Amino acid sequence: MKNISTKISLALLAVIISSFLFIYGCGDDPELGIGPIKEVKLEASVNADLSAKGKQIFDVKCVACHKIDEKLVGPALKDVTKRRKPEWIMNMILNPEQMTKENMVAKNLFAQYLVQMTFQNVTQDEARAVLEYFRSNDK
Ligand code: HEC
Repeated sequence: MKNISTKISLALLAVIISSFLFIYGCGDDPELGIGPIKEVKLEASVNADLSAKGKQIFDVKCVACHKIDEKLVGPALKDVTKRRKPEWIMNMILNPEQMTKENMVAKNLFAQYLVQMTFQNVTQDEARAVLEYFRSNDK
């Protein structure tokens, strides 16, 4: 009798511990992506200056692989702000190698496009400007 209840308690304990580990392990919201950006606060309207800056950066650092309306080496970026959260987009720009390894959505894109997007030496401010450019395309 004592043996059985010990076993049951141990089993319960194991279940409790593994649920904690599971919840803890999933603490990072996959929709936010993996990288330095934890939270982006957006204004309701698009900032035209910031978006113009973002377009300049995009035209130098991203057009080798991306177009807005058609897929090229990478996906078309029209409506990207509708399918992804701002944090995810900025983390993808700032941390693409880890994203394609550890974030389900980015991993699936990599499996589909078969080319590894690489970090283009953009600062967080530049990534924020590019996000604003995407917002202006999608409004
Ligand atoms: C070497 C080619 C290459 C360059 C340069 C590149 N990308 Fe990518 N990008 C890709 C590929 C390919 C993917 C799909 C994921 C993968 O395979 O790595 C992608 C995915 C993305 C995504 C996710 C799209 C979606 O549908 O969710 C965003 C956003 C993005 N890139 C933005 C940028 C920005 C902004 C730049 C410039 C700073 C840039 N990329 C530069 C190739 C590139």
